[in-house]
Amino acid sequence: MSSSNQTELPIPPAYRYYDALTTAVTLAQQAGALLLAIHRNGPERIKRKSNSFDLVTEADVASQDLILGVIRSRFPEDGIQAEEEGGSRQGSSGAVWIVDPLDGTTNFAHRYPSFAVSIGMWVDGRPELGVIQDVVRQRTYWGAVGQGAWVGTSQALRVSQVDDLHESLLATGFPYSRAVNPDNNMAEYAHIILRSQGVRRAGSAALELALLAEGCLDGYWEGHLSSWDYAAGVVLVLAAGGTVTGYDGQPLRLGKHQVVASNGPLHAPLWEAVSTARAQAGFAASE
Ligand code: IPD
Ligand code: CA
Ligand code: CA
Repeated sequence: MSSSNQTELPIPPAYRYYDALTTAVTLAQQAGALLLAIHRNGPERIKRKSNSFDLVTEADVASQDLILGVIRSRFPEDGIQAEEEGGSRQGSSGAVWIVDPLDGTTNFAHRYPSFAVSIGMWVDGRPELGVIQDVVRQRTYWGAVGQGAWVGTSQALRVSQVDDLHESLLATGFPYSRAVNPDNNMAEYAHIILRSQGVRRAGSAALELALLAEGCLDGYWEGHLSSWDYAAGVVLVLAAGGTVTGYDGQPLRLGKHQVVASNGPLHAPLWEAVSTARAQAGFAASE
């Protein structure tokens, strides 16, 4: 997929949000190229402020500025929720863009090669379209609910068919508050790692959800996410045939923090395992 011009996507141009989707694809690729250049050129090319954390902040903000500059001018009536300060605004159209300009901050800071750009759009509270750029592998995952999901322009995404937890490969993540908050996913992890073929923790919720949509993972859960961590990934999973709920088992709503996502056949076993582990540990069933 070219990153210089608007990309032609293999879905009907009559799709109502086709222009928004092609714009999101182009922006994710451009922001990805920006992050990849910083990653490859090493820390000496990053402007330093007070400490190593500030380096990441500058990359976050540069990526966010690039993305939001275009969204603001092309879609002036849409709302925006973006991770970095000063990015968000109310809109009047019912459409909201939810942007994580760099998902996998800790990886990026350590030059661990796994991080993403995530751009989702939800309309009237429902997931509509999403794009996730796997920056290092230079793969663009994109999709829209009811239209399907792809990586690049030729490979359609389809979730796996695994329906037994013991046959599954899963992913999760742990909150930044884990040292001070006992509800930190350790109980769920300890329970599920013993009942599955593996639980990965690669440090980017967006990439885990993209890999779930691709069929490389069978399920994913995490309990302290922000909307921008999952807004695009949820679209990809749904558009690829999967299922997403909160820990309460209900369809996920923006602003919720607890997410269970799966290929569909594995949803009940995974949700039950998360619920059982939380009950045994004495945590509330859901937020
Ligand atoms: C984080 C990543 C990580 C997840 C955290 C998120 P960030 O986002 O998605 O995988 O475990 O909950 O906050 O801070 O790298 O944008
Ligand atoms: Ca994030
Ligand atoms: Ca981020």
